[in-house]
Amino acid sequence: MKVPFLDLSTQYKGIKAEVEPLVSDILENCCYIGGKYVSDFERDMEKYLDINHVAGCGNGTDALALGLKACNIKPGDEVITTPFSFFATAESIASVGAIPVFVDVRFDDYNIDPDKIEAAITEKTKAILPVHIFGAPCDMDKIMDIAKKHNLKVIEDDAQAIGSEYKCRKAGTLGDVGCFSFYPTKNLGGAGDGGMVTTNNDDLYTALKAYKEHGAGEAGAKTLEFQTGIKETIETNEKATELYNPFKYYNYVIGYNSRLDAIQAAVLSVKLKHLDEYNNNRAKIAKMYFEGLTDKVKLPVYSKDIKPCWHQFVIRSEYKQDLCAFLSENGVGNGTFYPVPLHKQKAFNETNSRVSGGNLPVAEEISSQSVCLPIFPEMTKEQVEYVIETVNKFYEDK
Ligand SMILES: Cc1ncc(COP(=O)(O)O)c(C=O)c1O
Repeated sequence: MKVPFLDLSTQYKGIKAEVEPLVSDILENCCYIGGKYVSDFERDMEKYLDINHVAGCGNGTDALALGLKACNIKPGDEVITTPFSFFATAESIASVGAIPVFVDVRFDDYNIDPDKIEAAITEKTKAILPVHIFGAPCDMDKIMDIAKKHNLKVIEDDAQAIGSEYKCRKAGTLGDVGCFSFYPTKNLGGAGDGGMVTTNNDDLYTALKAYKEHGAGEAGAKTLEFQTGIKETIETNEKATELYNPFKYYNYVIGYNSRLDAIQAAVLSVKLKHLDEYNNNRAKIAKMYFEGLTDKVKLPVYSKDIKPCWHQFVIRSEYKQDLCAFLSENGVGNGTFYPVPLHKQKAFNETNSRVSGGNLPVAEEISSQSVCLPIFPEMTKEQVEYVIETVNKFYEDK
């Protein structure tokens, strides 16, 4: 039997009839940027997450940069984050000129260890950027308490966490802003790049809207005022029409061009209706792994407070290389996220990042042992059983 690591084509077959008329409507009407599909998707997502504001954007990396900019993170500020994540997490901090400060993670859920955060705080610290890695929310009460005590912003990296919950609240609604990716392999994946930023705060939403479109217009002017105290008025006698908005050409803060396009929004709006079903299927697969895998495998240990969305199922093995080779030889797709912890990436050094406590042994050990098993909503019971059988066979003589 062959079990792919991921199978996007089976998922597409199930929604093809719903997606294709929407895409052809967009192509025929030539409304590629903005418009009804994008705003409908944003409103649907607000309901799904139970949050006041959703702003679509170009991808998850931009979502993080936009979240940081909206929170007024400036060059030289320090932002506390995890070393065990995808590169974009820390890259986004560096991209706004700030310094990522890496704090070690926990063995049980692979997430930032809240008990180690306070030791990393200095007078330069302005925010905490927790990542709900593999779709398992961090210990958010502790993180929010520390943030409150030290007057820090919290920017959630929810790229892998759509639909997951912490104490019955959805990831992306817990901090000041939530930053999501719709990269095709995510639990809610587009037909290309896409992302969104979420917030309950009206001023932050205005800033997100400003930064994602060149700091222009009323949102730009309000953002300038709310972030710097400088008050500017829009000086134009021109009137906006359906086809021409003069305010687009008056810019107040330096932003980005980062928009969710209409085709992505249409595809995502169809998939959003199926998201809970997709995530429930993933949860059933995870349950089978927990029940069937030999106890020689080190499994994640998740708190009762969370409902993960099972973006990845990641075990730890001291035989990582041999186990991956054995899985591949036997037709089981696998991955090793993340082989290099962020503080060990060549792009980071003592001038553009900081390692809290000098070393991060837990993140390094997890990186050297992590093996991702296939988990996707369309996986059959037989495929899951075959993965379990293959892993257990590998461990027979261990
Ligand atoms: C944890 C994490 N953060 C950020 C990103 C960046 O998202 P994107 O690839 O959409 O830019 C990803 C996705 O790959 C991710 O997994």
